[in-house]
Amino acid sequence: MHRYETAFAAEAAAALDLPIDNIQGHVRVPEPERGDFSLPCFPFAKALGQPPVKIAQTLTEKLSQSQRFAVAAAGPYVNATIHPEALLATLIPEVRQLGDRFATSDTGQGQTVIIDYSSPNIAKPLGFHHLRSTMIGNALTRILGALGYTVKGLNFLGDWGKTFGLLAAIYQRKGQRDRLEKEGIAYLLELYVEANREREANPSFDDIARALFKRMEDGDTDALELWQLFRDISLKEFQRVYTRLNVSFDHYEGESDYRDGMDALIETISATAGTRIDQGALVVDMPYGENEPPMMLKKSDGATLYATRDIAAAKDRWQRYAFAKSIYVVGGEQKRHFEQLKRALDAMGDAWQERMVHVSFGRVHGMSTRKGNVVFLEEVLDEAVERAREKMTAESSGRDIDIDKVSEEVGIGGIVFGDLKNLRTSDYNFDWEDILNTKGFSGICVQYAHARCSSILHRAGGAPGIDAYDPSLLVAPEEVALVKEIGRLPAAVLAAAEGFEPSRLARAVYEVARAWNRYQQAGNADKTLRILAEDDALRTARLALVDAARIALKQGLLLLGVAAPEAM
Ligand code: ARG
Repeated sequence: MHRYETAFAAEAAAALDLPIDNIQGHVRVPEPERGDFSLPCFPFAKALGQPPVKIAQTLTEKLSQSQRFAVAAAGPYVNATIHPEALLATLIPEVRQLGDRFATSDTGQGQTVIIDYSSPNIAKPLGFHHLRSTMIGNALTRILGALGYTVKGLNFLGDWGKTFGLLAAIYQRKGQRDRLEKEGIAYLLELYVEANREREANPSFDDIARALFKRMEDGDTDALELWQLFRDISLKEFQRVYTRLNVSFDHYEGESDYRDGMDALIETISATAGTRIDQGALVVDMPYGENEPPMMLKKSDGATLYATRDIAAAKDRWQRYAFAKSIYVVGGEQKRHFEQLKRALDAMGDAWQERMVHVSFGRVHGMSTRKGNVVFLEEVLDEAVERAREKMTAESSGRDIDIDKVSEEVGIGGIVFGDLKNLRTSDYNFDWEDILNTKGFSGICVQYAHARCSSILHRAGGAPGIDAYDPSLLVAPEEVALVKEIGRLPAAVLAAAEGFEPSRLARAVYEVARAWNRYQQAGNADKTLRILAEDDALRTARLALVDAARIALKQGLLLLGVAAPEAM
């Protein structure tokens, strides 16, 4: 849609008699109800010597005859909607020509973006609560990549700290190597629970754990060997789940990578921002809000913390990548941590901290066991796949599909889409009914639409040639509506990237599916609207539209990290 955005900027520039470069950077993608583009008029008030509201009115009047856009003033803004005729003539061939490059661009070329996501703590299975960071981060990785940014996905494991002394202590006492090898992370979790029990019953156990972690910190090979074992086992299991989710990282890193430079870092902090002792702990000396707990670098027992290591990691990322943005996809409960991280770096003179963004997200309710324990992510995925299998088995009777593969794609896609469709910062309620609801705002609804488009094209013997298309034959309102929704996808990709908000894309791709469903239903009710029409030219035009819809649906799903099966 970039083309339309530029065209709109050009028309506005001509109407206002300003250079297009002054306009283009201000064009925004508004909420869909407002149109396809929006132009705020504040930036031109000075140059034109008029109040923004007046400029918006003038612009609206001047553009009222536009061939391409319908415009309306809304206070100091001008909102523009692309005329369907313009879309019908050009968009369908354009989408088909672009194929899997549809909705991509090179906006981000030459800029590197770091995305820290998923980043679980080791020695515990991935919980359902890890889904959000993992999938929002994955979607942003794909979306920013599609816009031409060089994206580096980092999984920053929580793999250092006293916990691992505790785990090693209990393992040395009663660990069984064969069980560890066989049961993996589930056994580590069991040991962890036991270690905590032991610690409550016997306070001296804590000292043993601390001493063991100290040995790890000092580089003791035996102690580190155990730690490495726990880490390897954890990583192997995480990777199995990531594979199912179709998520991959450029680098696995971890807090442990920064364990050695701590003293030097603390010296740097003391020499720049400054440090002070607060209740026995070493903290960053910088401005704090009222009642705000200070940022701790070292506890009274000398141990460094998550925050200390995150400062080191942030600096290292800047050194390695000179990033345009460094994104942390982490839950809202760490809001203060990231605020303090940025403030501390700023106090150290690291002005690039402005490029760091905490992409926070809300909680998921309705997904914990009766005892309030965490639910394992894999259990939820398994259940989703099982439910999908039942549904697919019931609905696909006799059709030739790979039920194992499709159940996996639909079940997991349902969970992922069900998460990403929610506004990132809001909490949401997990509800099994929503996940596989073919009639609602769901992954399966979009996947079905995509599969239907594919199967119609298949039945028609393939998609028609791009040049054989006559746009004047597509006149039904359902056809125009579908084209419009397809045309909105690129802007939704941009909006998703700008706001770090995959839900913008989830909504847009769902609207394509919905418009598709309406079109198809219209064809079922009214013979003259059948896609596979008798008339050759008409059938060709409609199949071209179906092909464009297929491309848009597939691209939307893939950028969200949801599979797009061709048959289901
Ligand atoms: N391991 C942390 C946790 O589970 C999240 C780490 C996020 N990334 C970071 N650089 N702080 O809470």
